[in-house]
Amino acid sequence: MGNISRRRALSLGAALGLASVASAPKAWAWSSLGSLAGTDAVTDPFQVWDPEPDQVAARLLADGVIPAVNTAWRSWVDNSDPLPSGMPGYLTSYLQQVNRLPSWADADLLAASERYYKRLASYLFVSQSLGSGIMSTVIPREARAVYWSAGGADMKERAAKTFTFGYDLNSETAWQPTGHFIVTANKTRLVHSVVRNLLPTSARFMATADQPKPISNGDILRTFHSVATFAHSNLLKWGIRLSAAEQEADLHAWQVALHLLGVQKQFIPASWAAAQDQATQLLWPDLSPTDEGTSLAETLLGYITDPTLGLDTGFVHEFVRYLLGNEIGDWLGLRRDWAQAALIRVEWPLYVAFREGTSSVLPGSGYLFDQALRGIAMLYLSNGTSATQTPVTLPAANRPG
Ligand code: HEM
Repeated sequence: MGNISRRRALSLGAALGLASVASAPKAWAWSSLGSLAGTDAVTDPFQVWDPEPDQVAARLLADGVIPAVNTAWRSWVDNSDPLPSGMPGYLTSYLQQVNRLPSWADADLLAASERYYKRLASYLFVSQSLGSGIMSTVIPREARAVYWSAGGADMKERAAKTFTFGYDLNSETAWQPTGHFIVTANKTRLVHSVVRNLLPTSARFMATADQPKPISNGDILRTFHSVATFAHSNLLKWGIRLSAAEQEADLHAWQVALHLLGVQKQFIPASWAAAQDQATQLLWPDLSPTDEGTSLAETLLGYITDPTLGLDTGFVHEFVRYLLGNEIGDWLGLRRDWAQAALIRVEWPLYVAFREGTSSVLPGSGYLFDQALRGIAMLYLSNGTSATQTPVTLPAANRPG
């Protein structure tokens, strides 16, 4: 955990619309009573990694077969695809065990999550791209890991691969035989295992590292909260009507996703209240700027403000501030545009209310928000069709140079 004053934790919590950020955490205190396991233990998820795929990844690196696996993986895309040939037997055996839903997965809830994500896709894209994507650059461990791994040198491709995960999870066929999510999640879990083997060999990464290897269960949960718990709070804050069944379906899809990413049941929140409680302990107090994160944010914002998407820089920077608060905006040096700031603060809630049918008045800037939603959707969808989707691949080395 990074150091943070209680005051800063409180102000961040308030900026992010959280009900309460009681105090800066010291020791890990979240009880697994609030988890899917339902046991009452306090185990620190930052001390838990993912030994089985980590060992598989170590062998893949030692055997020099990463490029061959990436080639074999190209044909492994749909949930119903057979495991590809051309992979070492130990990788195939491992995947045979994990490339499936857990016994506790609920098919009805997963189907309901597909409908939910379809209904709310445009809001989720806003929350994920301008909110979570930029927030990831002020999660110090994540920012450093991303920067110093191979993908950090080509952030455009890396961002596209990460969108692949969000796109596949939020797809209306995510869990169906023709959907992709189970495969994408398994590939991602192995990417993380390869990274756990590679990054400890990077002197520059280890110079500032505060754990023996990256991407513990706790770190994955932190990212989960920065995406899913944050989106859940945003939708409620924006006045979008979510039924209890929809909220349950959203959480369940993420519970299964966390399982597929190697997070143990004792850490997976069983309710949104338990998730918020966990986020209070492990996400909000940890945010802070790093050189690596600030550089990644600059690159990411450059893609979002690409003229072809039609999104004005001042608008994008102020939307990020609206979502993440001014402290984070200042850390990242986001240019102020007071007119856009006022417009977003006043008119975005009115725009959402109009779209959701709770108000009949379309604010004057409705066209601007329409354009923003279209531009952000393009970021996702241009990568979302199977023809153009950027495949997730295993890195074979750290960031070059
Ligand atoms: C790679 C998603 C948590 C660090 C990836 C990839 C995806 C992904 C889809 C493959 C595409 C790519 O190469 O970018 C997720 C999700 C997470 C999560 C959904 C949690 C819910 C984390 C955390 C860290 C991390 C906590 C570090 C602290 C990395 C790194 C790569 C990676 C370094 C490799 C990039 C490369 O190829 O060099 N992640 N991730 N991830 N992730 Fe994660």
